[in-house]
Amino acid sequence: MPDAAAKPAEPEVPPDADPAIRTIAMPADTNPHGDIFGGWLICQMDLAGATVAVRRAGGRVVTVAITAMTFHRPVCVGDEVSCYGSIEKIGTTSITIKIESWARRGTGTTPIKVTEGLFTYVRVDLDGRPQPIPAQ
Ligand SMILES: CC(C)(COP(=O)(O)OP(=O)(O)OC[C@H]1O[C@@H](n2cnc3c(N)ncnc32)[C@H](O)[C@@H]1OP(=O)(O)O)[C@@H](O)C(=O)NCCC(=O)NCCS
Repeated sequence: MPDAAAKPAEPEVPPDADPAIRTIAMPADTNPHGDIFGGWLICQMDLAGATVAVRRAGGRVVTVAITAMTFHRPVCVGDEVSCYGSIEKIGTTSITIKIESWARRGTGTTPIKVTEGLFTYVRVDLDGRPQPIPAQ
């Protein structure tokens, strides 16, 4: 039985920050059924995470792992997709960024969370060898 005193859940809102990237889902990003590819979204999230990681690491990074990836809602052609990145953890040579993607659909103004995941990057030198993340 529902608790009459329970408050209704607060609507989820996007992070209070500029997105790392913002783009539009286009027909070229669909599968033969007309749905946006999950891989397209992972690509946008990876780009977003890399911009945050490169800035913090002060150099070249490569993606070493993608974990806790969840597709909450579908993305449709024409959706405005914004990817927000926040630093979750800094290791010796790695940085883990939490990425959330939010979509605005059609003429709607309310964004909906469509994906989230943890993207880990390693700072590397020109030969691809791991390098320490500088202290801030
Ligand atoms: C990333 C890479 C340079 C790491 O080299 P490595 O010899 O495995 O280096 P290490 O074992 O010292 O690991 C480096 C860091 O990555 C972390 N790491 C390695 N594998 C990981 C995994 N599966 N998940 C999370 N972190 C991982 C380590 O914990 C370490 O972090 P820390 O220094 O902060 O503690 C190497 O694996 C690589 O070149 N991978 C391919 C990257 C790439 O091409 N990405 C694009 C994909 S198309």
